[in-house]
Amino acid sequence: MNVDVLQLKDKVALVTGGSRGIGKAIVKDLMEQGAAVAFTYANSTEKAKALEGELSSLGTIKGYQSDASNLDNINQLTDAIEKDFGKVDILINNAGRFVSKPFDEVTEDEFEQLFATNVKGPFFLVQKMVRLIPEGGRVINISSGSTQHYVPMSSIYAASKGALEQFTRTWARELSAKKITVNSLLPGYTATDWVSDTPEEQMQWMAGQAALGELGTAEDISRAVLFLASDLGRWVTGQQLSVDGGL
Ligand SMILES: NC(=O)c1ccc[n+]([C@@H]2O[C@H](COP(=O)([O-])OP(=O)(O)OC[C@H]3O[C@@H](n4cnc5c(N)ncnc54)[C@H](OP(=O)(O)O)[C@@H]3O)[C@@H](O)[C@H]2O)c1
Repeated sequence: MNVDVLQLKDKVALVTGGSRGIGKAIVKDLMEQGAAVAFTYANSTEKAKALEGELSSLGTIKGYQSDASNLDNINQLTDAIEKDFGKVDILINNAGRFVSKPFDEVTEDEFEQLFATNVKGPFFLVQKMVRLIPEGGRVINISSGSTQHYVPMSSIYAASKGALEQFTRTWARELSAKKITVNSLLPGYTATDWVSDTPEEQMQWMAGQAALGELGTAEDISRAVLFLASDLGRWVTGQQLSVDGGL
């Protein structure tokens, strides 16, 4: 793709949860389009170092161990990004926790941890980082198709992503004075690490839910992120964009 079309050459992006899965694909695609990329991870220090090594020839990349659910970590991350990069043009709230359980078996601890990662984290990250986001910046919240379509045993997960989508709607207005666009991206069933311990029969069922009859790939999601992050997505804000092969 012509780099000039996307105009990411002088941009700085921050991707939470960039060490694996969808976040890693987003980090790669942004780097390939010329952006400098900061990413966070929870525990995968080796994977984060390997990703830095793999992509450093493309430009500036730096991983930060930073728990998305912890406000102290968010404050420290904001200071570190300001010192290391000076700004964040594109902020991608991707880090997420998933709990798959019947609703009557969910514990208080699971509920609180899931909402801390999927709702509290993105809220305070944007609240703290917004001073670093220049005019025309982007906020992209990675939500889930489970807000639109029933996914068995996912009630608290779907509810947390519903809250994230509501931030998208309100932030699109609240950040509009700086022409910052805010959008949600809703992946359907996407093949990341969870695939390795999922029974084949369940995988077939999930693939069959999509009109296109397959699981999505992490790259299917990151290509849509490029659209929203780039100049191509300039006129799109406050939207919930499904990228799910037709659920
Ligand atoms: N895969 C799907 O089918 C699917 C469908 C719809 C929506 N989504 C959403 O897409 C996003 C990415 O999903 P994925 O399947 O790529 O996930 P994944 O493969 O499990 O990777 C999760 C990433 O987030 C990081 N992370 C998790 N908890 C964190 C925390 N508390 N603080 C900082 N980083 C944290 C992980 O870091 P470590 O490597 O250190 O653990 C890892 O980099 C999530 O928001 C998910 O809800 C996924």
